[in-house]
Amino acid sequence: MLSYQHAYHAGNLADLHKHALLASMLAYLTAKPKPLSYLETHAGRGLYDLTSAEADKTGEAANGITRALSENWLPADHPLCQALDAVRAEYGATAYPGSPLIARHFLRPGDVTHLAELHPTEHQALSEITDFAHLHRQDGFQMAQAVCPPTPRRGLLLIDPSYEVKADYTAIPRHISKLARKWNIGVIVLWYPLLTDNRHAPMIQALRSDHPDALLSEVRFPPARAGHGMVGSGMFVLNPPYGSEAETRRIEALFARL
Ligand SMILES: C[S@@+](CC[C@H](N)C(=O)[O-])C[C@H]1O[C@@H](n2cnc3c(N)ncnc32)[C@H](O)[C@@H]1O
Repeated sequence: MLSYQHAYHAGNLADLHKHALLASMLAYLTAKPKPLSYLETHAGRGLYDLTSAEADKTGEAANGITRALSENWLPADHPLCQALDAVRAEYGATAYPGSPLIARHFLRPGDVTHLAELHPTEHQALSEITDFAHLHRQDGFQMAQAVCPPTPRRGLLLIDPSYEVKADYTAIPRHISKLARKWNIGVIVLWYPLLTDNRHAPMIQALRSDHPDALLSEVRFPPARAGHGMVGSGMFVLNPPYGSEAETRRIEALFARL
């Protein structure tokens, strides 16, 4: 039974790190006229309202994207700001895009999208705003293994689990190695939390040893509340697009002052 709901966390500091890098990579990849595939294993509901009871309860967005915008952390022409502006023009001033809607902003006719979301309520909500993608209500790793290598071959896969199933930490390196063997030119992106108990560390060690050329970006921030175990956000990127390394360093500098 899945209980995680991203509405409590949408727009928090981890989303800011993840979505800023994702938007930058997609802006670069879609600047070339060649079509691409965009895949997500854990899509979420795609659209959030930062005035919802869930967002209000945790206050995570207020300390994340809302603060970042009011303090101009990102330049107005940053790809994440462009996607956010477009989504707010469509859905209202307090909307926040999940990764599927950030991707939709950059994708073009001819690009092919596959999104997996297992939770019935989240999947239903996603289906109501998605007319640009193949939606899969199945395990995201199974979907990715079935679709890869995708057509078109060029493309990006985002793996953004909720890590509710603790076995994810040990299974992910195996999933990624298998996907990379099947799709050796794919940009494979994994988000992971930095945890006070270091539960993520063996997974990252395994990924680094299997893929020494991958790009790693980690940022640290104060916990959302006292005793909360997440104290940072990480992104692991196989076959990073040109410019990703410089972008990660820019984003890391923003977090360094928190
Ligand atoms: C962190 S959220 C996704 C957030 C989204 N990628 C974004 O950035 O806007 C993780 C999502 O994965 C879903 N989920 C959990 N286990 C899954 C699985 N095995 N396959 C597909 N989706 C799953 C959860 O219901 C949840 O909506």
